[in-house]
Amino acid sequence: MASNNFPSQSHLLVIIIFITTLLTPITTNNTSPQPWNILSNDNFAGKLTSASSSVEAAAIDFGHVTKILPSAVLNPSSVQDIIDLIKLSFDSQSSFPIAARGHGHSFRGQAAAKDGVVVNMRSMVNEDRGIKVSRTGLYADVDTAWLWIEVLNKTLELGLTPVSWTDYLYLTIGGTLSNGGISGQTSRYGPQISNVLELDVITVIFPRNFIGKGEIATCSNDTNSDLFYAALGGLGQFGIITRARIKLELAPKRAKWLRFLYTDFSEFTRDQERLISETDGLHFLEGSVMLDHGPPDNWRSTYYPPSDHLRIVSMIKRYRVIYCLEVAKYYDETSQHSVNEVRGMIKCLPLYPKKMYFMR
Ligand SMILES: Cc1cc2nc3c(=O)[nH]c(=O)nc-3n(C[C@H](O)[C@H](O)[C@H](O)COP(=O)(O)OP(=O)(O)OC[C@H]3O[C@@H](n4cnc5c(N)ncnc54)[C@H](O)[C@@H]3O)c2cc1C
Ligand SMILES: *[C@@H]1O[C@H](CO)[C@@H](O)[C@H](O)[C@H]1NC(C)=O
Ligand SMILES: *[C@@H]1O[C@H](CO)[C@@H](O)[C@H](O)[C@H]1NC(C)=O
Ligand SMILES: *[C@@H]1O[C@H](CO)[C@@H](O)[C@H](O)[C@H]1NC(C)=O
Repeated sequence: MASNNFPSQSHLLVIIIFITTLLTPITTNNTSPQPWNILSNDNFAGKLTSASSSVEAAAIDFGHVTKILPSAVLNPSSVQDIIDLIKLSFDSQSSFPIAARGHGHSFRGQAAAKDGVVVNMRSMVNEDRGIKVSRTGLYADVDTAWLWIEVLNKTLELGLTPVSWTDYLYLTIGGTLSNGGISGQTSRYGPQISNVLELDVITVIFPRNFIGKGEIATCSNDTNSDLFYAALGGLGQFGIITRARIKLELAPKRAKWLRFLYTDFSEFTRDQERLISETDGLHFLEGSVMLDHGPPDNWRSTYYPPSDHLRIVSMIKRYRVIYCLEVAKYYDETSQHSVNEVRGMIKCLPLYPKKMYFMR
């Protein structure tokens, strides 16, 4: 190829090199630790695998929309394993993508690492450790690989619960804290990312999933706050969260659970907004849409007594779309009256004929 012997053609040379670069796959230095080379690295013996079953499983998520193959999957048994992996990528000449995978309930490849390494966070779960509850501090220090249902079960043993949940609890702490975490508690308490006191994060620098410094940092509103607020809702782009300190409260003794059905969308949202603005109102409030298609489960039939099912089905068929407002109020022996307050709030609503409600 042309060289410096022909300086007058340097412009042409640059263009040729540029085009060649575009056409030629990026060649890698064989001695650099690409995922397919680090398989033999002693640090990861038995933890890093390129077995097709593991790689195929990590390529797909709940959405089944994308299939993005990593080169390997790391099943870490400690935080140090993840630090070692990120450092290896950061220190090498040609870094490889790394992505944390919680329960893989993303919809479109958010936890994928094309040609890189997916870190299977769930392999860190150890029955004997990873959830420490402080009764006096009203918080839990949790390894982020745990599912919310597992954390809830643990805190309930001490009469406590997380303050803000997702509806569906089979998601990891790390997965929802990297998104937002919303449910019927959000209007009162904020999303899950607003109910975290502190994080441990293994830093990974931008661009997404690409290279990292692999340093572990504790962060909060007061310490390393940039990292704290970047990692919360950060889709794993700023680091891998290994521990979270989650706010707890006393578990309610009882909860009154009510559902209202609307046919008029603006009345539905007007009531929603009104109930949200009640200062000491409800502990849970959520809306959903019921459509006339598919099996009865589509309208969450388990939410209603079987004796009402036929009636609801005929309403859905008639109106084609119905809006459900679902609310809950916590109470105990000493606050039985508060349930009546909910009833009072509901009496203010024009219930029938435009709306119907069911209670249990
Ligand atoms: C059936 C179902 C019900 C759902 N219900 C709700 C709901 O009620 N409320 C709600 O808010 N959301 C809900 N979601 C969405 C869900 O919160 C997100 O998809 C969430 O990311 C899934 O958690 P996961 O553990 O499966 O995370 P994954 O899909 O494994 O990962 C999600 C993202 O977080 C990153 N990540 C994972 N762990 C870490 C970590 N430790 N550190 C840094 N980054 C990490 C991943 O790289 C990826 O970018 C639901 C999803 C499904 C499939
Ligand atoms: C490949 O990497 C090794 C070790 O880092 C280095 O000594 C060598 O010069 C590199 N070779 C090329 C062609 O970049
Ligand atoms: C949580 O606790 C409930 C009630 O004891 C139990 O049925 C369920 O299996 C537990 N789930 C998990 C994931 O531990
Ligand atoms: C976070 O820190 C800021 C600045 O120190 C302070 O004003 C704010 O009240 C703190 N927020 C929380 C939730 O502690």
